[in-house]
Amino acid sequence: MKNIITTLKKLFYLWRRSQVPVKQPIKISRIDNLIIFLVCILISIISSYKLLLISPLNIEDIFSWLFTFTEILISTGVLILVSKKENPTISSRQIFLIITLLLAVQVTKLTLASTISPFSMIIPPALILSQGMGSITALAWVSIASLTWPDQEIFINNNLFFILLVCASIVSLLGGRIRSRAQLLQLSIFVPIGSLLSQWILIGKDKISLMNKEDFVLANGDIFSDSLLLAIAMLFTILFIPIFESVFGLLTKARLLELADKEKPLIRRLSLEAPGTFEHTLLICGLAEEATRMIGGDIDLIKTGALYHDVGKLHAPNWFIENQDGSKNPHDELDDPIKSAEVLQAHVDEGLKFARKNRLPKLIANFIPEHQGTLKMGYFFQKAKEKNPDINEYYFRYKGPIPQSKETAILMLADGCEAALRAMNINASDKEALNTISNIIYSRKKDGQLDDSNLSKGEIFLIKRAFLNVWKRIRHRRIQYPTSKNNTFS
Ligand SMILES: [Fe+2]
Ligand SMILES: [Fe+2]
Repeated sequence: MKNIITTLKKLFYLWRRSQVPVKQPIKISRIDNLIIFLVCILISIISSYKLLLISPLNIEDIFSWLFTFTEILISTGVLILVSKKENPTISSRQIFLIITLLLAVQVTKLTLASTISPFSMIIPPALILSQGMGSITALAWVSIASLTWPDQEIFINNNLFFILLVCASIVSLLGGRIRSRAQLLQLSIFVPIGSLLSQWILIGKDKISLMNKEDFVLANGDIFSDSLLLAIAMLFTILFIPIFESVFGLLTKARLLELADKEKPLIRRLSLEAPGTFEHTLLICGLAEEATRMIGGDIDLIKTGALYHDVGKLHAPNWFIENQDGSKNPHDELDDPIKSAEVLQAHVDEGLKFARKNRLPKLIANFIPEHQGTLKMGYFFQKAKEKNPDINEYYFRYKGPIPQSKETAILMLADGCEAALRAMNINASDKEALNTISNIIYSRKKDGQLDDSNLSKGEIFLIKRAFLNVWKRIRHRRIQYPTSKNNTFS
């Protein structure tokens, strides 16, 4: 019996280890929660109040209203939960965007349903949400927005409703994957053409059968003007997406790729003023990208985050060994380990200042402090200990926070491994390289740096293999630069 329990416990432990833990959601303030709840109530009232306008009103009508009201309130709640599940770090501003778009669509349905096509009401917001918050959130939004019609008398023809759902689903699915503004433009042309053709085939010229209510869509269901309006609405949406990005802190794929452009002034400055750091950054990009691909993380996010992780070194490039080029080390002249540690911490603080100045999205700025976490600056700590054995370790640790996502954790590991792999002998075997990688990762793990990252054991194993693969690729063309054994300068 005892054996069975032990085996079951072991199996349960193994099962738990194999599960990828979920990220800790961002806490939303009470006031924000209250406002979100009130907007949800407003949406439910707008969508259902017409049921109460029937006269004479009997108890069945009140129950029917109550049922619709509750149904819409629950649907909106489910929508928020879905968006939180897809984006664990979603902010209250972004939830406001989701429900405000829903509210706007419900109000438009109520006031302009007879003049505006349902395509132009549902598809453009779906494009914004899929770009900024992912396909699943957009799909959930589309299903709720297209199901809740405030005016029960307005009921869309089945074929039209089917085409609407197909077009909105295509936009939601593709919108979450699209990586450039040019592809967005193509989508805004092809989707209206697709809707025009499918309406033509499935509904035809029989305008009476298009709607149950004749005056629903512009020009009594004029298919052409319907699709033209959709194309115009989508083009305007694409035009306004950058505004949504900055107001609601959305991070679209297109924005990520724009930021990853090496001609961006900040990156250009890094390559000119801190060439060693720039080279280190490019190598880290390679390591981190491969590891993220292995574990199925967000490659565009880590590539961009890696590019900006050490921009803070621009405040004093020659204080970092990779930029010293054999010249004097200012730390030796300073001969004060505590001051040297302050200079190292400053590359994080200054990096955050650069991020604010250059309006980098929060998800990118997070890479700056989290890639150093609360790591110990071992080299300077040892030096300080030689002078004063009782010195407090606190002065020689970065201020953190420790990595809060898989991507920032991978960057921390890549940052640690890059210098060590570079310093390795060119004839080192794969086993030696893997040992070096494993030791660095183990020391970070033991130090508690990966505690909040949600990286599972299996993922850490894959990260090690990915780093080894990249090292095998780059060892033939690597350039050695002096690096300390303790990797204190990275
Ligand atoms: Fe750094
Ligand atoms: Fe770095």
